[in-house]
Amino acid sequence: MEKIVVQGGKRLQGEVSISGAKNAAVAIIPAAILVDGVCVIENVPNIRDVHVIVGIMEHMGAKIEFLDKYTLRIDCSCMDKQTAPQEMVRKMRASYYLLGALLGRFHRAEVAMPGGCNFGSRPIDQHIKGFKALGAKVFCEGVVKAAADELNGTSIYLDIVSVGATINVMLAAVLAKGRTTIENVAKEPHIVDVANFLNAMGADIKGAGTDVIRIRGVERLKGGTYSIIPDQIEAGTFMIAAAATGGDILVKNIIPKHMESVSAKLIEIGAQVEELDDAIRVLGTGKIKNANVKTLPYPGFPTDMQPQMVSLLSVASGTSIVTESVWDSRFQYVDELRRMGADIRVDGKTAVINGVERLEGAAVSATDLRGGAGMVIAGLMAQGTTEIYELQHIDRGYEKMEEKFQALGADIRRVIG
Ligand code: EPU
Repeated sequence: MEKIVVQGGKRLQGEVSISGAKNAAVAIIPAAILVDGVCVIENVPNIRDVHVIVGIMEHMGAKIEFLDKYTLRIDCSCMDKQTAPQEMVRKMRASYYLLGALLGRFHRAEVAMPGGCNFGSRPIDQHIKGFKALGAKVFCEGVVKAAADELNGTSIYLDIVSVGATINVMLAAVLAKGRTTIENVAKEPHIVDVANFLNAMGADIKGAGTDVIRIRGVERLKGGTYSIIPDQIEAGTFMIAAAATGGDILVKNIIPKHMESVSAKLIEIGAQVEELDDAIRVLGTGKIKNANVKTLPYPGFPTDMQPQMVSLLSVASGTSIVTESVWDSRFQYVDELRRMGADIRVDGKTAVINGVERLEGAAVSATDLRGGAGMVIAGLMAQGTTEIYELQHIDRGYEKMEEKFQALGADIRRVIG
């Protein structure tokens, strides 16, 4: 059994380079199904979710090759299956993007309900609403089956601001006949990245990053080269680690604009944040003030940074209130933080955190991907040794997390067996 072992209390110092964005990569790779030609995707993060989606697409007939560790060559011209293998699909959430991409290209898709982190109910009704509006018939009984004679552009209003539905409907619409307007869409940086990728391959998408996306259907997408944006959440995790350890970290290869809500909260908590062109330096002052946080769709504070922030606030002076407004149930990891001495009460979607003087090392589990990142932050701050289990969650989304922390001076290592 693998575990991460952290000896807490080290001040982190130095530079860290951020990998390509997981949530952009897991959408752009299946989006290549729509492309009639070869796509070369650069800055692909070397994480488990990427290997899973690549494996699924290879199983379906795509030719995919790593040109180097971070560059993928994808050729879907000989893809001959529109049914995704169930056991692989259930390993990750983003496999739902196969639906939009397969429907867009073949007018037919069959994909099991996706897996991923457990945050309570994770419906995909808005994805399905969009596919139906474009003219598909969709049946959903454990496996989602979608089929259409043709797809026609239309006007779609999403009832909920959803990253997945926004991207999936965009994928289904790029090759549809005529114009599609999607309103009340999500604005996350990776949505803009997927639209930029599709446009670079010949699509006509306008408005990504605003509330309304307008698409003119095109006949075909051609191949090309595209580089994925840096991972906003990995960057935020290292920024919080700097504040948490009273450290001094230059977080490099990022887009500082994407980090505004995290930077603002860290300044409020007492850290110094210096924005450079493509980097942010965070200087922990040793003081961690209490603060209230509410997660929201972009540009609000990201739900995917919520556990890391709760770990930090668990040692703040005073009481902090953190409200989760994106997911029904994203506080499972709090029980693990309590094992380390945190004083946190969860009431539905709100956590009330009474800052304690220090956390104590303990054996804890990564309950999910970002919950696992929260445990690493807690371990870095704690007195004594923290052992973190269930690393498969962390490995889904962070590339060599412990090696990047080691390079910053952390006493952290992965132990196998
Ligand atoms: N929702 C619906 N119906 C839908 C779709 C969503 O009710 O058809 C609800 C969800 O239940 C949730 C809210 O809308 O309450 C937002 O869900 P969204 O669709 O935006 O989430 P997602 O696309 O499934 C992506 C990220 C998550 C991240 C959320 C929110 C990927 C692969 N996943 O999920 O990332 O938390 O957006 O920003 O892009 C992570 O990286 O750790 C992670 C969980």
